Amino acid sequence: MHSHNIINKKIKIIDNTRVCNNYYKLILDSSVIAKLAQPGQFLHIKINSSFDPLLRRPLSIHRILGGKIEILYELVGRGTKILSESSSGDILDVIGPLGKGFNYQSPQPKADPPQAEITNDKANPNNQLPILIAGGIGVAPLVFLAQKMKQTPIVLIGAKTKNEVLCMKEFKNLGCDVRIATDDGTLGFKGRVTDLLKEFLPANRIYACGPDAMLKSLQKIAAVNNLNCQVSLDEGMGCGIGACLACVINTTKGQKRICHDGPVFDIKELIWEG
Ligand code: FES
Repeated sequence: MHSHNIINKKIKIIDNTRVCNNYYKLILDSSVIAKLAQPGQFLHIKINSSFDPLLRRPLSIHRILGGKIEILYELVGRGTKILSESSSGDILDVIGPLGKGFNYQSPQPKADPPQAEITNDKANPNNQLPILIAGGIGVAPLVFLAQKMKQTPIVLIGAKTKNEVLCMKEFKNLGCDVRIATDDGTLGFKGRVTDLLKEFLPANRIYACGPDAMLKSLQKIAAVNNLNCQVSLDEGMGCGIGACLACVINTTKGQKRICHDGPVFDIKELIWEG
């Protein structure tokens, strides 16, 4: 969904702390943006730096709690390093909400599922539930999505190792059925989260965010199984508002700007370079 209401505001940091490893959570105070935001949209945040005052970073909206906006981010370079050094009370210049988010307003199921029989149904009783699938920091936008969905989704989280599994608690608090895949098998399924997904097929709707390798294998699985799958791309951006063309990708519908036409796309439309 496109929001035509884009705000550019100075916003106060309520909190900015390390969650684990290189992952940080920023909490911003803006009831205006919190009200407008849709899952999958992002904020373009100017990083406070005297050396490079024009530096902005696009960061997806992780969760909304009342008038508070949470951003979960990974420290990956200079911009996020500077951001990680900001603290509560500091003011950030924020543009948002930006981009086209997930389409999650599904039609209601035709009939109520027979609750009593659900555990005995061998034909995958869960296949009417949406599935969220995340790799690494890709969990960030999916928590907000799970918050907004009418049906409580199944959530598959992939990470390198146990210590890097993010947001398990947040999803469980929303009532989600959460399954984990780790590369080294230290928690949950040993292997790729896309292999874990195969145990949950068929599925009628999949929402994903994660590294390119995960999305590429998801695209194959989606093609073979004819799955309806929306993905949020997390790529380098410049202006964030559709003007600089730094974020252009090829799709089956021609060139698209991640920041303006996405970041959420139908996985069938994506064409990978190389
Ligand atoms: Fe400038 Fe997308 S970041 S057009």
